Amino acid sequence: MKFFIDTADVAEIRELAATGLVDGITTNPSLVAKTGRDFLEVVAEICDIVPGPVSAEVTATDHETMLTEGRKLAAIASNVAVKVPLTPDGLKTCKVLSDAGTEVNVTLCFSAAQALLAAKAGATYISPFVGRLDDIGIDGLELISEIVEIYDAYASIDTQVLVASVRGPLHVIEAAKMGAHVATIPPGVLKAMFNHPLTDKGLNAFLADWAKTGQSIL
Ligand code: G3P
Repeated sequence: MKFFIDTADVAEIRELAATGLVDGITTNPSLVAKTGRDFLEVVAEICDIVPGPVSAEVTATDHETMLTEGRKLAAIASNVAVKVPLTPDGLKTCKVLSDAGTEVNVTLCFSAAQALLAAKAGATYISPFVGRLDDIGIDGLELISEIVEIYDAYASIDTQVLVASVRGPLHVIEAAKMGAHVATIPPGVLKAMFNHPLTDKGLNAFLADWAKTGQSIL
């Protein structure tokens, strides 16, 4: 499973990229707005920090303008993946951009029917929002399972399932069990995945016993 980080916060990205565990970044207009910074500058800076795919989302809703915006975003760096919403105009734009060789991340997916359309439109990634489905009492992980099942049935579909709207480590683990290709993980959730009280307890015990030996490796 590839781990993307779901943030436009450059400081968080630098910190987590240093772990060597970050395969890409996803942003969206809300995450960019939170930074208070210029969108195009933030995307360019992120693309310099992380060599993997960096999703940057168009903000237009009509095909022609989406296409112009998408081409401008794709021109920022070779690792930009253009994000478009799962609407008729968004998928029309996805088709044109993907046919031209641009990676496209189709976002705001909430049904298997939408995911099937995105695959037909040549999406590189489909982003089902598991957390927002959970928020309204619908099992978001069930959607992941459905999409993986459908995509796996066709060798012609190479769209990657990119699990989004992740609310905690369990979303990542359960999606991984289902064979989802990517999870885009908020920084706090990734940090939480490192933690286990028995790891801390065990390490403290090892170090206390080592200290008693009076030895040093260096
Ligand atoms: O990548 C989409 C993600 O940022 C949405 O997450 O928590 O706003 O549903 P959330």
